[in-house]
Amino acid sequence: MQQNPNALPDLTVVVPCYNERDNVRPLVDLLDKALAGIRWNVLFVDDDSPDGTAKEVRALARERGDVRLLHRVGRRGLAGACIEGILSSVSPVVAVMDGDLQHDETKLADMFAVLRDRSEVDLVIGSRHVEGGSASGGLSALREWGSDLATKLARRLLKISASDPMSGFFMIRRERFNEVVTDLQTQGFKILADMLAASRGRWNVAEVGYEFRTRQHGESKMDTAITLEFLGLILSRLTGGIFPIRLILFLMVGLSGVAVQLVAVRFALWATGFPFYIAQSFGVWVAMTSNFALNNILTYRDRMLRGLAWFRGLLSFYAVCFIGALANVGVAELLYETWPNWAVASFAGAVVGALWNFVASALVTWRM
Ligand code: GDD
Ligand code: MN
Repeated sequence: MQQNPNALPDLTVVVPCYNERDNVRPLVDLLDKALAGIRWNVLFVDDDSPDGTAKEVRALARERGDVRLLHRVGRRGLAGACIEGILSSVSPVVAVMDGDLQHDETKLADMFAVLRDRSEVDLVIGSRHVEGGSASGGLSALREWGSDLATKLARRLLKISASDPMSGFFMIRRERFNEVVTDLQTQGFKILADMLAASRGRWNVAEVGYEFRTRQHGESKMDTAITLEFLGLILSRLTGGIFPIRLILFLMVGLSGVAVQLVAVRFALWATGFPFYIAQSFGVWVAMTSNFALNNILTYRDRMLRGLAWFRGLLSFYAVCFIGALANVGVAELLYETWPNWAVASFAGAVVGALWNFVASALVTWRM
């Protein structure tokens, strides 16, 4: 039933969505039933989905005042979408819930009641690992295993006590969110784990069990890159945030480049009769190309270059790496002159070269 659009809502449900067009109307119908008696609105945060999700939300928003759209262009990422959605809401309480009907909307009223009745609680997590919860409906055996592993890692390394920090389903007091928001990373899927880590155990957390449902329309956006982003998030947190996720991913790609280079050199020596320096040059070229491609789909996934921009980016990346190599050799040589220890000098050169590549490619190649 349509509510009075002028009344200020007590609850905003933030729904990140990417290619969820067919789930928009069914979800709002379900919210109608589940939230009767609560003044609520729903804010869809769409990253310009090619399937026209934003158009569908806009059409619905014209029919009823309690549906809103935040349409982001040129950006991708679940965590960032949730953060911007929460920041844009005006209600004292905000929920985050997936837009694919996998989360159990009937639990929203229970979660809301916890915050209403217990003023000491800051955050309520929809959990698959407490009584009344289960994950098996919505996840394959492999993903369930991965999710359990990630949960253990997060709980141990980030010192989180909640049972399901990997959940994408939670409700929080709006003012509590302000305490951590400047500390959150916009990449990746794991906004809840990141928030819990950023709160450093100060929050009083309650949990409500829910059964993770099977997806009916569309498909999951979870993939290998998101798993690696999660590892980046943990490492970033372990270094107290000194190393941002992007730098960690960049260094991981750089390390993979060393392996790629070795394989390429070995291959060139084996397949051709070329002298070593040509094989080595070939190896460097292959490694630079693979580093660019991997950084583009992993480190800069949220601003991935495509088509012509991909080639332009590749050329600028070559240029950046070329200067980086000069800086590497220059710094190593300078240091070696004052302190002739080859390993220290060479390592220092590598660090300076890598940092240069990181900063310069961020500015020039991916235009941060
Ligand atoms: N705006 C935006 N941008 N939304 C996104 C993006 C993005 O880049 N990627 C995914 N989404 C939206 C999806 O459209 C969906 O509504 C929701 O975020 C979850 O994405 P799924 O791709 O369906 O993820 P999942 O089902 O594999 O995993 C989800 O549920 C798990 C259990 O709660 C996530 O929420 C996980 O974080 C969570 O562990
Ligand atoms: Mn899903």
